[in-house]
Amino acid sequence: MPAKHVKSVLITGTTSGLGRGLLEHYAGRGVKVISVNRRRVAELEASHPAVHFACVDVRSATAVEELIGALAASGELPDVFILNAGINRLDNDAAFDLPAYRDVVETNLYGVLNFVAPLTRLPPAGVDRHVVAISSVVTYAGNPRGLGYQTSKRALTGCFDVWSRMYEGTDLVFKQVILGPVPTSIYTMRDKLPGWMFRIKNLASASLPGAVGAVARFAPTRRKKLIYPWRAFALFGAMRLGGAIVPGFLQGRRTLDGRPRRARRNEPA
Ligand SMILES: NC(=O)c1ccc[n+]([C@@H]2O[C@H](COP(=O)([O-])OP(=O)(O)OC[C@H]3O[C@@H](n4cnc5c(N)ncnc54)[C@H](OP(=O)(O)O)[C@@H]3O)[C@@H](O)[C@H]2O)c1
Repeated sequence: MPAKHVKSVLITGTTSGLGRGLLEHYAGRGVKVISVNRRRVAELEASHPAVHFACVDVRSATAVEELIGALAASGELPDVFILNAGINRLDNDAAFDLPAYRDVVETNLYGVLNFVAPLTRLPPAGVDRHVVAISSVVTYAGNPRGLGYQTSKRALTGCFDVWSRMYEGTDLVFKQVILGPVPTSIYTMRDKLPGWMFRIKNLASASLPGAVGAVARFAPTRRKKLIYPWRAFALFGAMRLGGAIVPGFLQGRRTLDGRPRRARRNEPA
């Protein structure tokens, strides 16, 4: 399906960042947009009167299922779904913070899977439906102190790897974006990271308009994976290698404020 033939798109998390950029991209080109946010933003809704705003928390399987059911019943199911909503939290620093971890996984992983379950139950309707997950280069090398973020994106990538092969050639086109750093409001621990790490992130970064354009070009194709930008893949791949061969590198052995992680045992057990 050429990009210019996208008729309608559902995007989750459009109050800021990539989701908002995508909303503006599609709405500005006359594409019908269904925007799924967990809260109403009057200014956003006023500036896009043609957009269908649905107030749904993606963590709620029931609410997402009802939304998909209502769109199917009214003939409004879009041909592209961009499942973008996501959060990052510091959940594994001085101690493992289970509620924070759970919140990240509920949003980044289940917030996507909650859409996939009802979509796979829909009868084929002779229309291709492109289901796009926004994963991350943290699948190659992630900050161990944002453990929910790293593990949720790895699981998301694993699920979409399976579905993109399993449903290949059918009306359900599963695909994913492995996105490098983009300057948005997502939590990055910027003030807490060592300078070298921040410089690597900057080198690997894409601009927001660049990322929006790349995702929009990729979404209606039948390609399974977009890695964007490529230099992020190179830098995060190098960090993964560093983690494998340099003792202590990217392993979180110290807390963010530089304290050793518990006392080291002198004797092997
Ligand atoms: N920026 C990066 O460096 C980067 C890199 C790789 C991948 N990504 C991925 O790109 C996606 C977009 O992130 P972003 O950078 O654009 O971050 P962002 O500016 O913080 O936007 C995140 C969006 O998700 C929404 N959201 C969060 N929890 C939600 C929930 N439970 N239900 C519905 N919406 C919810 C937020 O809404 P509220 O305003 O209500 O919080 C916001 O609209 C995420 O999946 C992120 O992991 C980002």
